[in-house]
Amino acid sequence: MPFTYDEDGLLCADGHPTSELAQKFGTPLYVYSADGFLAHLAAFQQAVAPVNGKVHFAVKANANLALLSLMAQQGAGADIVSGGEMQRALAAGIAPQDIVFSGVGKTDDEIRLALAKNIGQINAESPEEIKHIEAIASEWGLKAPVAIRVNPDIDAKSHEKISTGQKSTKFGIPIATGEAEAVYDYIHNSPHLVARGLAVHIGSQLTDLAPFKAAYQTLIALADGFRAKGYDVPILDLGGGLGIDYHGEETPDFAAYGALVSSLFSGLDYQLGFEPGRSIAADNGILLTSALYTKASEEKDFIIVDAAMNDLLRPTLYEAYHRIEPIQQSNRAKRLSDIVGPVCETGDYLARGRDFPSVESGEVVAVFNAGAYGSVMASNYNTRAMPAEILIHQGEVHLIKPRKTIEDLLNDEHNPFAE
Ligand code: LLP
Repeated sequence: MPFTYDEDGLLCADGHPTSELAQKFGTPLYVYSADGFLAHLAAFQQAVAPVNGKVHFAVKANANLALLSLMAQQGAGADIVSGGEMQRALAAGIAPQDIVFSGVGKTDDEIRLALAKNIGQINAESPEEIKHIEAIASEWGLKAPVAIRVNPDIDAKSHEKISTGQKSTKFGIPIATGEAEAVYDYIHNSPHLVARGLAVHIGSQLTDLAPFKAAYQTLIALADGFRAKGYDVPILDLGGGLGIDYHGEETPDFAAYGALVSSLFSGLDYQLGFEPGRSIAADNGILLTSALYTKASEEKDFIIVDAAMNDLLRPTLYEAYHRIEPIQQSNRAKRLSDIVGPVCETGDYLARGRDFPSVESGEVVAVFNAGAYGSVMASNYNTRAMPAEILIHQGEVHLIKPRKTIEDLLNDEHNPFAE
């Protein structure tokens, strides 16, 4: 557990008092435990080792170069969804062959970049995309390695904005209508495409294994059918999606997920790929924020902190729950409270309706499980500089993303009308 309270009730990050980290680097501040990331990655790798699974970390969950480099050194590849993430993964030292390019809307430039860099696999999501990849490969006299992401029409039973497996979503090529098969026929017959296999990702923050099982069984049936037609289907990419416990401190049940995968795929001759993001990253990051004011109302207190929706969007966007605690434990009385940021929107909150101890101005509180989809979704809304990010690796604290100054933000723009 990277984030624990010491005997004096002070929250420490890999042994470092968070009060000192907040003091030194300022707030809002993302704090990551590299050892935690690598331990979760190892647990995932171990869980899928019996079926020889290869992990491609979903860069979108936490894109920090330092973290990507450390994970690459431990054998992780990358699942990417943009040319930007590709350049990031390559800059972090991830081998091109260990990169899988997902996403419904790859531009021609991104496809060119993928082919120029010789990345391992493009997961295509529509017949039109396949035509674009083929045209570029043909122009360059290459054979592009493509897998297709299928839509199995399965409800992941997660939040609707992060469920991706139903036919009503924009994701994947439908199986039921025969389109997936028609597209695979096309790839098989194209001189400029190499069929690498099938991919499925039905959503994120799945807390039940049943939808995974249904999706994977559907994928096996489809792949076996394609093989029976004489097609090459070397790889099955099983996506990400394993959920975490935002309420407690339980680590994801990698072993149960691994057992499910082993039960379905043992003895089948497929190379398996996995794209976990949240399950590796979320537990291993916190967001430290300082209380500014407490504003009492009849019903409840508003605890106004210096982190806002621009720093951690999940509560606003998905009504997501994140555990929040003062970094100093105590026996203070609790009041019904909303923990809110300074941004000028009613939707700007980190938590609502919590029983929360009264905090003094300047006191630091920690938002837990913020290592995934935290900093990557931050913005400069309200011309707020995004949080700094630090990484603790084998006891040492590294500033891996300094906070920009407001001057930096202004300098990003060109104003032809300034006098
Ligand atoms: N593979 C693909 C194709 C994906 O679209 C995703 C996530 C992953 C893998 C990684 O899934 P994970 O293991 O992290 O569940 N911003 C949202 C989550 C969006 C997930 C998008 N796709 C949130 O904060 O909950």
